[in-house]
Amino acid sequence: MLSLFLVVVLFTSHGSTSDTKVSHDAHTHSENYLMLIWHNRLYLYSAAALVFGIWFSLKVALKKKSIAEDVASSSVQKAAKKSTCSDRDAEVYVSGVKIFYGSQTGTAKGFASGLSEEVKILGLPAEVIDMKDYDPDDQLADESVSKSVCVFLVATYTDGQPTENAEWFCKWLEEASTDFRYGKTYLKGLRYAVFGLGNSVYVGHYNTVGKNVDKWLWMLSAMRIMTRGEGDCNVVKSRNGSIQGDFLAWKVKFLKRLQALAKGEKKSCSGNCKKGGSCKNKKKERQEEEEEEEEKTDVQNNSSEEELIDSSSEEEESDLQDEKKVVDMEDLGNIMSSVKKAKESRGNGQMVKLSKLNGVKKLEDEAERREMITPALREALTKQGYKLIGSHSGVKLCRWTKSMLRGRGGCYKHTFYGIESHRCMETTPSLACANKCVFCWRHHTNPVGTEWRWKMDPAEKILQDAVEKHQNMIRQFRGVPGVKPDRYEEGLVVKHCALSLVGEPIMYPEINAFIRLLHSQRISSFLVTNAQFPQEIRSLVPVTQLYVSVDASTKDSLKKIDRPLFKDFWPRFLDSLKALGEKRQRTVYRLTLVKAWNVEEMQSYSELIALGQPDFIEVKGVTYCGESSASSLTMANVPWHQEVVAFVQQLADMLPQYEIACEHEHSNCLLIAHTKFKVDGEWWTWIDYERFQELVQAYEESGGQQTFSVLDYMAKTPSWALFGAQEQGFDPADTRFQRRNKTKDISGC
Ligand SMILES: Cc1cc2nc3c(=O)[nH]c(=O)nc-3n(C[C@H](O)[C@H](O)[C@H](O)COP(=O)(O)O)c2cc1C
Ligand code: SF4
Repeated sequence: MLSLFLVVVLFTSHGSTSDTKVSHDAHTHSENYLMLIWHNRLYLYSAAALVFGIWFSLKVALKKKSIAEDVASSSVQKAAKKSTCSDRDAEVYVSGVKIFYGSQTGTAKGFASGLSEEVKILGLPAEVIDMKDYDPDDQLADESVSKSVCVFLVATYTDGQPTENAEWFCKWLEEASTDFRYGKTYLKGLRYAVFGLGNSVYVGHYNTVGKNVDKWLWMLSAMRIMTRGEGDCNVVKSRNGSIQGDFLAWKVKFLKRLQALAKGEKKSCSGNCKKGGSCKNKKKERQEEEEEEEEKTDVQNNSSEEELIDSSSEEEESDLQDEKKVVDMEDLGNIMSSVKKAKESRGNGQMVKLSKLNGVKKLEDEAERREMITPALREALTKQGYKLIGSHSGVKLCRWTKSMLRGRGGCYKHTFYGIESHRCMETTPSLACANKCVFCWRHHTNPVGTEWRWKMDPAEKILQDAVEKHQNMIRQFRGVPGVKPDRYEEGLVVKHCALSLVGEPIMYPEINAFIRLLHSQRISSFLVTNAQFPQEIRSLVPVTQLYVSVDASTKDSLKKIDRPLFKDFWPRFLDSLKALGEKRQRTVYRLTLVKAWNVEEMQSYSELIALGQPDFIEVKGVTYCGESSASSLTMANVPWHQEVVAFVQQLADMLPQYEIACEHEHSNCLLIAHTKFKVDGEWWTWIDYERFQELVQAYEESGGQQTFSVLDYMAKTPSWALFGAQEQGFDPADTRFQRRNKTKDISGC
C-alpha cells in the first residue's frame, strides 16, 4: 500500500514538471529534487518494503495472540471440567514397586536398593524385600489386588539352586505352581518382572532361578510386564560387557515400562503407529507371546503326558481304545495273563509280541515284572511334589504338617484323635489303586489295577526311604518365617504314619510287614482302604486306626463316584465293611459328601453303618481340587459347613448308638462316635499312643495271643475339640490363619 502511494507520488511529481515552466529556478529546484528521489528510488522501495513487512508481521502476531487467548480460555474451561472428572475417578494404576531380592554375595541386593532409589525418583513408592523375610504363602496372593508391581532380582547358585535367602520362596512357588489345589489362577492380577543374576560359565544351570521364578509366576497366571532380564557375570559373554551393564540396560527398559503402567497404559504399543508391522514393540510383544505359547505347550505336554499314563476302568475301555497310545496297567494285567496262557499252551518262554493300534509292544518274560512307576508317571508325580520311593511307593509333606510346624493348627485328625500333624508322615507303599474316584485329588495320574502285578520293593527299604525323605522335607522348614523351633525339632521325629496318600496301600503284598515295622519304631498307623479288598482287610495285623472310604451308599452311586475297576465291586464293598466289623482295634467309616450326588441317601448310609459297626464315622464335605478332565465335579458339589452339619445331625438321629462328638470347622468335617467312647458323659475319642505301642508290642511278642481292643488305648478329648465348642475344633494353643481363598483350602487325608 505504501509503495503504491510512493509510485503515485513519483508519477504525480513527474507530471507536474512538464506543466510548470514559469519559473526556471523553481523548476530546476523541483527537478533536482525529483531527480534525487528518482536516483534513490531503490532505497525508497526497500524502506517501504521494510515498513510493510513490519506492519504485516505485527498484524499476524496480534491475530495469533488473540487466537491463543481464545484457545487458552477454552482449555482452561476444559481442564477445569476434566479436573473435576478425574478427581471423581482418580485412578491409581501403580501403587508402588516391591523389589524382592535373592542374593548370596550382595550383587542382587545392591541392584535392588539402586533400583528402589530410581523408582522413588519417578514419584512411586518402592520397597526392598529380602526374600527370606517374606512369606509367599501368606502374602503373595495379596499382591494380585494391591496394584503394586513386583520385581524379582534373583541370583542362581551351585547346581542351579536359589540363594539361601530365596530358598523357601522358590520352594513354595514351585510347589504352588504345580499343585492344582492352588488353582491355575492363584496369582491372577499380580504384575511382575524378573531379572536373573548368573554366570554363563555354569553351563546347564545358567540363570536357572530367574528362569524358574518367571515360569512359576506365569504358571499361576501372574502377568509379566516385560521380558525376563539376564545378567551374566561372565564378561566375555555378557551382552553389555558386565552384569552391571546387563542390569542397567534392563533397568532402563523397566523404568520406562513402569512409567507407562503408572499412566495407565496397558500395553507398550497401541499398534497404530506409522511403523505398523515393523514396530519394535509389536515384535517384542509377539516374541513374549511366543515365549508364553512355548511354555504353555510345555505345560500342556505335561498334562497330556499325565493323561497318557491315566488308565481306565473296564467300562470305559472301549471308548478309549482308539485314543490310547500306551497299554495301561489294568490292561497290561489282562494282556499278561493272556500272554501267560498263550505261553503255557505253546510251552516255551520266548518273548511275545503284541500288536495294538498298529504299535508293537514287547512284553518281557513273566519273571521280568514291570515297574509300577513308569518314567512318565515318575515325572508327573514328582512335579506334583511327591517324593517317590523305589518303584511303587511315595511320600509327600501334607499341608497340615506345614501348618502345625508354624503353629497354625493341625488337621482334623489332630482335633478328633490327638494326632500331632507336624509329626505325621503321609505315605503309601502302593501308588496303584482299584478305583478312579471322581474327587481323587491326584487327577488319576496313578496307575490302576485289580491286583499286584509289578516289581516289589522290600518293606524295610520303603520305610527307611520314606522317613529319610520326610525328614528332608521337614528340614527345608528350618528358618522359614513362623516355624516354631520346638515343633521343628519334634517334626524330625516321625510319630504317626497316614497310609492314605494316593493309591491303595492294602494292595502292597508286604503291607503287614510294613505296619509291623512302623510299630517297631513307635510310629502309629492310620490306614485307609477303598473297601475293595475284603480278604486283605481280614488278614491285616492290628493297626492304630483302620479306615474304609464309604464314598456312596448305593450300588449305583458308588459306581458313579468311585468308578471301580472290579466288576463285582458292590459285593466286595459290602464284604469289606463286614470285614471291618470283625476287627478289634479302632475302625472308621470315612464319608465324603458330594452335594447332589450322595447326600440324599441317608437311609442306605445307616444300613451300611449297621453292617460294619464302625467305632467312628467321619463326615466331610468334598473338597474341590480344581478342574480336571478326569472329573466332572464342580464347586456346586461342595457342601457348606452348615449343610454338612445338617446331614450329620440327621444321620446321627437315625443311629441309636452314635452321637456327634467333634467338629473341625476349618476343614468342613465332623465326627460321629459310638457311645462306648462316652465315659461318664465325657468323650474319649483321642488316642493314648504310648499305650497303643505297649499293647501292640505285647500282641506281637505273644504271637497274637495277647489281644487288645479299642477301649484299651483311648484318651480323653479336650473341650475345644468337642462339637458345639466355641473353638469349633481349632486348637487354642495355635493361631488361626485365614486364607484369602477359602475355597482352595483342603481338608487333609
Ligand atoms: C559358588 C557359586 C556358584 C554359582 N552357581 C551358578 C550357577 O549354577 N548358575 C549361574 O547362572 N550362576 C551361578 N553363580 C553365579 C552367581 O549367580 C552370580 O555371581 C551372581 O551375580 C551372584 O549374585 P549375588 O551376589 O546377589 O549373590 C554362582 C556363583 C557362585 C559364587
Ligand atoms: S492330614 Fe493326614 S497326613 Fe496330614 S497331618 Fe493329618 S493325618 Fe497326617
